[in-house]
Amino acid sequence: MYRIAVLPGDGIGEEVVREGMKVLKAVSEIRGFRYETKMYPFGADHYLKTGEMMPESVFSELRQFHALFLGAIGDPRVETGLLEHAIIGGVRFKLDLYINLRPVKLYAEHLCPLKDKKPEQIDMVFVRENTEDAYTRIGGTFKQGTPDEVSIATMLYTRKGCERAIRYAFEVARARNKQKKVTLIDKANAIRAQDIWTRTFAEVGKEYPEIQQDHAYIDAACMWLVKNPEWFDVAVSPNIFGDIITDLAAVIQGGLGIAASGNIHPGQVSMFEPIHGSAPKYRGKNVANPIATIMAAQMMLEFLGEKAAASLIERAVAELLSSKRIRSLGADSGHSTSEIGDMVTAEVRRLGSST
Ligand code: IPM
Ligand code: MN
Repeated sequence: MYRIAVLPGDGIGEEVVREGMKVLKAVSEIRGFRYETKMYPFGADHYLKTGEMMPESVFSELRQFHALFLGAIGDPRVETGLLEHAIIGGVRFKLDLYINLRPVKLYAEHLCPLKDKKPEQIDMVFVRENTEDAYTRIGGTFKQGTPDEVSIATMLYTRKGCERAIRYAFEVARARNKQKKVTLIDKANAIRAQDIWTRTFAEVGKEYPEIQQDHAYIDAACMWLVKNPEWFDVAVSPNIFGDIITDLAAVIQGGLGIAASGNIHPGQVSMFEPIHGSAPKYRGKNVANPIATIMAAQMMLEFLGEKAAASLIERAVAELLSSKRIRSLGADSGHSTSEIGDMVTAEVRRLGSST
């Protein structure tokens, strides 16, 4: 029995999470595993009503679950970054979810904005360090609002932090058994503090002689990702660059409408979410595409060890996209949020009964 905490959050979060849960229910019936869920209301509405963002006691409660399923956080009525930091940041930092795993796979050629790129050329996994870097909020402002204002943010890297991310990336490359290559993405030529990544990568790499070690500076990596995405197998990077380059990577797989991520601490409770935001303007309109959230459920099942159920979801989504029954991944797909959830559910049932 899996215990799953559900945090729909803001904007379209509630609607896309509902569809993710619909698909989860279908695959659990087909594959015969059981789970229970508990809903948590945190987000802008709850904050504006109660003044509460993410109470400390919730974190110890969240540790009792096997996985957390998050919709989206962010609302224009609340100060920029406040809820994101308290909720997403809170969970990542306090539960020490040190890996942000972002698979990038093109399921249908017509979804790719790059010329002449085929699905087999876009198949990679980004391992983004998830607990350090410029995200720690170490720093601050001084003489704010005056001509002498100073504003400082610290890029913080620890040996432990980069080592565990790098090691995880090598393990992913080994398990994938594809190109057997890990690319370190950094900017150690300008930001010398990132030399800790270069050195740790070389050291840890010695333990994986069968895995090729590759390197690209973040600026060049952005260029290669557009020009030669087939060069990437597994990439590992510090937090902030990983945040940026995975939005770019999401676009070459069809956009934020399909990109999902896992905030992972191997062996402990971990959190799964679409990488898109809360899209407040689409809230309650039943137009947002829920596939990214459905793919987050797919990653959650993979993490929980329900490989066959995860594979059913992935095959169903791939089939709906490559057959063009779902033509696009935006709010303009011609299908409502709930319709897409129903289509994936039906496809999962069809595939599940034929195997
Ligand atoms: C993401 C998001 C977050 C991040 C924001 C909402 C703080 O963009 O998960 O990629 O920057 O990590
Ligand atoms: Mn991001």
